[in-house]
Amino acid sequence: MFAENQAIPLFPTFVWMHQLNPEDTVRINNTIRAKLLSLLGPDAQQHENKANQTNQNLHTLPEFQEFNQVLLKATKGVMDFLHVAEEGIEITSCWANMNTKGAVNPAHTHPNNYLGGVYYVDTPENSGSIVFEDPRAQPRLISPRVSQSTRENSGRATLNVEPGTLLLFPAWLVHSVEPNPSENLRISISFNLMFSSFTEKVSPVQWTGNIPT
Ligand SMILES: [Fe+2]
Repeated sequence: MFAENQAIPLFPTFVWMHQLNPEDTVRINNTIRAKLLSLLGPDAQQHENKANQTNQNLHTLPEFQEFNQVLLKATKGVMDFLHVAEEGIEITSCWANMNTKGAVNPAHTHPNNYLGGVYYVDTPENSGSIVFEDPRAQPRLISPRVSQSTRENSGRATLNVEPGTLLLFPAWLVHSVEPNPSENLRISISFNLMFSSFTEKVSPVQWTGNIPT
């Protein structure tokens, strides 16, 4: 009957996932973890329902320079994938999230940036997933029962991540983090990237990093 069938994805929304190799993961995460504990202190681990965050200038610290190189290499891959001709893109902010038991990160976007993302340092078993929301409004008007929930018919999606996982996604994509039921800290590094010309001429970053090094 049909000579050919296709389901053509139009206007797809991508999350780019990278996994560092084990040796790099251990080295980079040990460096990051030690710096974060020195910045936030032992108090960061002691209270439940606490979503600790550092200031947003971690990318300026010496301990994050190797991480910056990893992030910029992954970003270059995304720019190539999307055939973006603008060459100058930079990390505009970078901060840590240390979630104790019960802590959540509510739904949000990363305005005034082109890409946002997160890198995982510690992901204890059953410590909550990152959740992405369908950015399209129209598909929510009709939601038929489905025989199986899939990426193609769902309005939200979670991804399995582990230490060394790096995610990049459009900064406008709404995302959140589920509660951490685990007794252990869930540690991730969030960041933003924006075209340098925009940051310099249109809307510079608003924060003034003051983390002691
Ligand atoms: Fe975020």
